[in-house]
Amino acid sequence: MTSDRTDPMTDTPENPSANTMWGGRFAAGPDAIMEAINASIGFDQRLYAQDIRGSRAHAAMLAAQGIISPSDADAIGKGLLTVLSEIEGGGFRFQTALEDIHMNVEARLKELIGEPAGRLHTARSRNDQVATDFRLWVRDQCDAAIAACRALIRALVTQADTGADWVMPGFTHLQTAQPVTWGHHMMAYVEMLGRDIGRFADARARMNECPLGSAALAGTGFPIDREATAAALGFDRPTANSLDAVSDRDFALEFLSAAAICATHLSRLAEELVIWSSAQFRFVAMSDRWSTGSSIMPQKRNPDAAELIRAKIGRILGAAVALFTVMKGLPLAYSKDMQEDKEQVFDAADTLMLALAAMTGMIGDLTVNRERLEAAASSGFSTATDLADWLVREAGLPFRDAHHATGALVAMAESRGVDLPELTLADMQSVNSAITAQVFDVLGVHNSVASRQSYGGTAPDQVRRQIARWKGAMEGWE
Ligand code: ARG
Repeated sequence: MTSDRTDPMTDTPENPSANTMWGGRFAAGPDAIMEAINASIGFDQRLYAQDIRGSRAHAAMLAAQGIISPSDADAIGKGLLTVLSEIEGGGFRFQTALEDIHMNVEARLKELIGEPAGRLHTARSRNDQVATDFRLWVRDQCDAAIAACRALIRALVTQADTGADWVMPGFTHLQTAQPVTWGHHMMAYVEMLGRDIGRFADARARMNECPLGSAALAGTGFPIDREATAAALGFDRPTANSLDAVSDRDFALEFLSAAAICATHLSRLAEELVIWSSAQFRFVAMSDRWSTGSSIMPQKRNPDAAELIRAKIGRILGAAVALFTVMKGLPLAYSKDMQEDKEQVFDAADTLMLALAAMTGMIGDLTVNRERLEAAASSGFSTATDLADWLVREAGLPFRDAHHATGALVAMAESRGVDLPELTLADMQSVNSAITAQVFDVLGVHNSVASRQSYGGTAPDQVRRQIARWKGAMEGWE
């Protein structure tokens, strides 16, 4: 880092070590450790495209308002494109001594075009600049998250469509509860992801205001046109309060919150895949592409991707907690603490996109063991509620009494090591004499699921309606 001291961009004749961007009042450059703790270029170089886009919009506006000359604006605009291609071509040398992406870009611009580069920072501060750059970046991530959630929804809907009437056990407390359909279970996750999309879309709409022109904190005396820069950068409007605009990181917190909720959904689905693919369940088999073997146990097919997705929520929620903690006690307006926003959001966004892509691949490749699902659904007294409901409907029992009678029949079946449909009519009638042979109709798992026709219920007809509604929504995507 100290070797950067000799770089022409950090040298001035008067104070050879001070930063050329703000070093006017400084006689000496920073301590090496100060430079290390202060610099963000190691990570905020990811904002280069947003930074250059924001600067180009700012320069064009300054010229349109007569604040800088058209020829200077032209030189700045062209020079910034050169910087952009240098960075994209990998030939740009980022310098720690120049702290961050904003000063790295501007310093290179000065090397390229000379004096006009110094006019770019008129009526602007790094405070509104970074707020703008970061909003643009997070806004793109909202779009990417929405696209990735949609891809996973498509994979889940395909699974649901194939198995709309496949019967499986539904669980509460991970104990067999009532039979449900595979399609119903898949569509439950579609609903969650639909809400995730809603959260990313809401966050995007709320963050779509442009901080540029708020300057350091108080606005500026130059006759800038904030509507113009906001429009040029695709924002709906300029932010309404300059103090708020440079201090606000709600957009990052909202993104992290939405990401944490989305990752929670992925983690729950991943957990189900881990359980379902175990030798004890065998509900599903992971494809080779999404599992690994063991170096010592030849029989193993480990669901590593699902396990890692299950774990990734830790990083994403950790990022949210970290940024909330950074922000919670900060006085207005900008404080350098806020530089800690970026790494958290970068890591959370990368992690979420990877987890969504992996889950989409796994769901698409999943082999579902229909016979095994049905066999599991048929065991564990899963239709006990159907029996109790039958006693209410056909024998006129109060539900509590029907529940009690059914409990007695379950105990009888359990003691004999059989399931409810294997009891005889005489067994049934020994508990309640009103029971007739018709009761056996509701003890089958297919009749059980078919009967649950309430809106949103597990009946295949209802599941197909859910699928149809989502397919309708999918037509409007892309
Ligand atoms: N690198 C800084 C950040 O990420 C840019 C803003 C610096 N502003 C300042 N007044 N030092 O927050």
